[in-house]
Formats: sequence, structure tokens, C-alpha cells
Amino acid sequence: MSKDSSKVFITCALPYANGPCHLGHLRSTYIPADIYARYNRMKGKDVLLVCATDEHGTPIAVQAEKEGVSPLDVATRNYELIKRDLELSDISFDNFSRTTDPLHYEISQNFFLDLYNKNFIYPKTIQQLYCPECERFLPDRYVEGTCPHCNAEGARGDHCETCGRHLEPVQLVEPRCLICNSEPEARESEQYYFRLSNFQEQLKETLENNTQFPANVRNYALQWINEGLKDWILTRDMDWGIPVPLEGADGKIIYVWGEAFLGYISSAAQWARRENTPWEPYWNDRAVHFIGKDIIYHHSIFWQAMLMAYGCKLPYNIVAGEYLSLEGRKMSTSKNWVIWAADFMEKFDADLLRYYLVANAPLTRDTDFSWDDFQRRVNDELADVVGNFMHRTFSFTHRFFQGEIPEPGKFNDYDQQVQKEIAESPGRVGVHIENFDFREGLKEIIKLAKLGNKYFNDQEPWRTVKEEGDRAATTLYLCNQIAKVISIIISPYLPSKAGKMREILGLNAGNGDTLSWDDAAGFLPAGTPISKAKPLFAKIDDDVIAAEKDALYKNLEETEVMDDLISIDDFIKLDLRVGKVIGAEKVKGSDKLLKLMVDVKDKQLQVVAGLATKYSPEDILNQKVIVLVNLQPAKLFGIKSEGMVLAAGDSLSLLTAPDATIGERIQ
Ligand code: 2FM
Ligand code: ZN
Repeated sequence: MSKDSSKVFITCALPYANGPCHLGHLRSTYIPADIYARYNRMKGKDVLLVCATDEHGTPIAVQAEKEGVSPLDVATRNYELIKRDLELSDISFDNFSRTTDPLHYEISQNFFLDLYNKNFIYPKTIQQLYCPECERFLPDRYVEGTCPHCNAEGARGDHCETCGRHLEPVQLVEPRCLICNSEPEARESEQYYFRLSNFQEQLKETLENNTQFPANVRNYALQWINEGLKDWILTRDMDWGIPVPLEGADGKIIYVWGEAFLGYISSAAQWARRENTPWEPYWNDRAVHFIGKDIIYHHSIFWQAMLMAYGCKLPYNIVAGEYLSLEGRKMSTSKNWVIWAADFMEKFDADLLRYYLVANAPLTRDTDFSWDDFQRRVNDELADVVGNFMHRTFSFTHRFFQGEIPEPGKFNDYDQQVQKEIAESPGRVGVHIENFDFREGLKEIIKLAKLGNKYFNDQEPWRTVKEEGDRAATTLYLCNQIAKVISIIISPYLPSKAGKMREILGLNAGNGDTLSWDDAAGFLPAGTPISKAKPLFAKIDDDVIAAEKDALYKNLEETEVMDDLISIDDFIKLDLRVGKVIGAEKVKGSDKLLKLMVDVKDKQLQVVAGLATKYSPEDILNQKVIVLVNLQPAKLFGIKSEGMVLAAGDSLSLLTAPDATIGERIQ
């Protein structure tokens, strides 16, 4: 492969070591970064793809406190899980480190000292939240309150989920200590600040002039910069973290966001030590950060300003993937409304997920994971388009051409058009990947497979092979070339499936990184042996999807009944009525759900209830049941549900009121 001497330093946001990876992480950050890295390797660039687990911070300390173990124990356990998840997802890291690695401590402390010595970090006595009950200063995540910017309730001490702004605990309106729920008070303490305000103009200029930055990153960042940047508190009174490397700063640590970015560097430095080569040339050539949209502020503002203060090159790009919802609802790990990477990969190939998450929507748009849609795309696009094209090409080559690419005849106009498409595809896909439009690149590849199917159909080789052998030979010659180019250019997206395609074609079946993108369109010579076709993409059956949906919705039902204590005012909000079941049927594809029509006197509600394992539709018909009638409608299994029929937890015993009048309120 031709070697391009330029280097690319690619990073993925460091996952917090407080839980395993779910599909949202993979969609926003890791899969796009991996596609970009694999593509660049195939372009002959020298790529360094690094990441690490982010192991400090209060959530990990809080979790450890709850479990009665050390924060390092919690972090180590999750480091193992996260590393496994990312391996299962085929993310081709050159190095995956941890922010508890001693090298990370050293690099972070030196960076802090450098900024301090340049007077970009200064001490200041400030008011901090102190909980008199717990007798301690409360770090950010130990406090919740109302956001001072957008008035959203439940804003955390460091971040408002609603408006996306970074917060300091003392800014919260009506703060509460998350350990004991009492109201903390402001007390004086000395902390170190970073002179973020000094970089206001420089950041603005960078963001305005760097047209490489995607619109979502530039727009968010500029909007915040225009509101004015304040100096940023960089230390905390806490045990768990990297000690502030200054005299008299005992008991203080560098705030997790003040050192996590350095994880990009320390992971690269760890790699460099092992490989005995410097990492700096990679950073200096081109650095690209892949992150989720919730941390645009941190990367575009804090990190860039820190780099400006240090005096080194700024990233070439910051690519921010937007959110993934699940079956139309916001993902929530606490409500178990989530699909964990390892659970998914236990049942499906990582490549199917990689395909679906990229094909589903551009990275710069929120999108949804739906089991039905996943099944549809895998079956209709991967199996029916790509798999079918490859299968018929390889099978036909075996049946009629002794398993070798046949010698073509003279090309007609159609053949020439196909030849042109083959030649142009790698370039077109490559431009999209270079522009971080991963979905567009993938669409080009599917388009090429569709063209292959159409060409095969139009040419009717099953007929011409008997009448005009030359024509069939040309058709199969070109179809094998289409298969070949696809097997190479689909490699960054579906590395494992691409390897299987290349195995059949007798090409390098490995991870694809040693294949040359620029040679992808080169033709395999006539006479090249082709192995027997093997199914590349099996269709996913309806019952497999139904089982996944069932399991997922069950999680939701379970957590819905597990909520915390409520006040009498909350109870009064529940409009519980007696209703008569006037229609009942099973939900197709689910063995747990019934679709009911319930008459509550002034209206009739459609309710999807998880009662089918205990009651048949006939059992439940005409029963007078208790229904929650003012529930926000939701879709269960794709069917609208406008209320909830009450039943006892595990036994599923239906709550009935045989003597009550329809429409009567429960109070
Ligand atoms: O938001 C997060 O998940 C952080 N752990 C990301 C850190 S990325 C960077 F700072 F390294
Ligand atoms: Zn807010």
C-alpha cells in the first residue's frame, strides 16, 4: 500500500468508569471514530486512535461510598466492562488506558503546573456549598437544585441537562445535598481558577474561522461564548482525584474535567512508551476528537482554551454525535430503558449494529433505535441488497464458471457505466468519510450494491449463459469486481463482514487496515478463484425481535412500579376509575401483552397491558377493572396505550371492582 506519511491523532471521549457502555455511547462516539480511523489507515495515513476510562469524579466516589468499597475498585470493575464492550464493538484502539494510571497523574499535574506558572491558574477564596448534616463540602454531583439559567429542576451541581450549560454548585437555586437531602450552606474555601475569560476573543475567532468544525459544535459554542465566559474553577476539596501539585493545597484535587482531557495525551504517551516512538507528531499533524453532544461545551471551550494557554496546536476537528433514543423514549439507565452493548452483542453481530446506527441518521441529528427498524434495515438492506448481490454473484460464478472470475467479452455501454461506477465509488465514499458524513458514505456503498443487483437482473446471465456465453462472462466478471470493491470500501463500517467477503474473493481477509483504499477499484484478473458462497447476512426473524421488545418493555413496567415515595398531592393527581373491559385481544408478536378497550363512562380508552401470561382475552372481557385514566399516552410495542389497568406485581392478579359503577373514581 502506498504510504502517506501524514499522521492522524484520533480520540474518543473518555467513558466514565461508572457503568458499562450502551448503544448511545457507541452511536455518538465510538463507532464514528472507528470508521474514521479505519478509513484513514486504509488511506495509508499513520493513525493513532486512543481512549481511556475516566475514573475520577464524584459519581464514582458516590457509588463507592454506597457500596462500601474504594473508588478504585468501582473504576477497575467498570474499566474491565467498558474495555470488553468496546472490543465487542470492534473499535480498533491503538491504546486504551485509564486516568488512574500513574503516567496520567504525572502528565496532568505537569500540565496544571505549567498553566499555574504561566499565571493562567490562580487561587481565589470562594463560597462553596457545605452540608452541615454531613459535615463536608459538597462536590458538584453531591448537589442538585434548580438551574439559574433555564429554571429547570433537578439540575446537577456541574451541569444542567435541560439547557446544556456547565454549572457550579453555588449557582444552583434551592440546592439540596444528595446524601442527606438537607439544604447545604455556602462557606468560604480557597480554590484554584483557570483564566477562561482571557480566551474569550481567541476562542470566538477560532470557532468562527474553523469551518471544519461541524455546525452543531460551532453554533453551540459560539452561543455560549457570546454570553461571556467566566473563569473556571479547576479544583475541589475531595480525596478521590489527582492531587493539586502545589504547596499548601493539601486535600485538594484537580477537578475531573481539568484532567480528563489530558487522558487523550496520557493514553498516547503510554502507547508511545510501549512503541518507543513519539506521540507528538500525531497531535501536530491532525487531531480529531469524537465526542457526544453533551460535552461540546467542555471540548470546544474548556479544552481549547487550556490548549491555547499551554501553547500547542488546536484540534483539527471536534465531531459531536447527537443522542440516541430507544423506541421513541429518552434512554435512561436508572429506569433500565437502555440496551447494553454486551447484551446486544451476545445476540447480534457488532457489524449489524454498526450498520444500523450509521445508516439510521446523520451523526449531527438525534435519532432513535427501534427493534422493528433495526430488523427492517438488516433484512431489507444488508440481507436483501448486499448479501443477496454477493450470494448470487459467487454462486453463479461457481455454477457456470468453475469458481473462477470469467474472461470478459467486449464491454457495451451498460458495462462501461458499471465499470465507471466501480472506479468512482471509493473516491465518493472517501470524500464523505473525510467530511465526517459517515451515513452518506454508507449510502453510496448500498447504492453500488443495488446497482449490482439491477445489472445482474437486467443482464439475465442465467439466460445468456446458454445463448451468448460471452455476455454472461462479462456480467459475472463485472459483478465480481463490484463485490470486490464493496468488500474493501465497506471495511471501515463493517470490518468483520468485509473480511468474510474478501475471504471468498481470495483477498486479504484480515482487519482491512492493510488494504489500500486507493487501490480498491482495481480489477481482479480473470481466472481469480472464488470460494463457495457463504451466507453473509442472515435475516432476523420476527420472533427474535418480539422477544427483545418483550424483554425491554418488561424492564419499563418493572421500573414504573418502583418509584420513590410520593406526597398526597401526587396521589390526588392520579385519576383512577372503575372501567369495564369492552374489548380484549392479544398483541401480535408478544406473549405478554393484551390490547384492551376500556369504557370509563365519559370515554373509552385503549390500553396495552402486560397481562397475557395470566389472562386470555375472554377472561378479562366484561370485567370491571381499575384504570389510571390520566396517564400520558405512550406506545407499547408500537401500539398506543392511553391508560393503565391495575394488577398486583408478580402474581398479575387483576384489581377488580365487580360491584362498583362504571366511571366511579377511586379515592
Ligand atoms: O462526559 C463524559 O462521559 C466524560 N467522561 C468525557 C470525558 S472526555 C475528555 F475529557 F476526555
Ligand atoms: Zn439549565
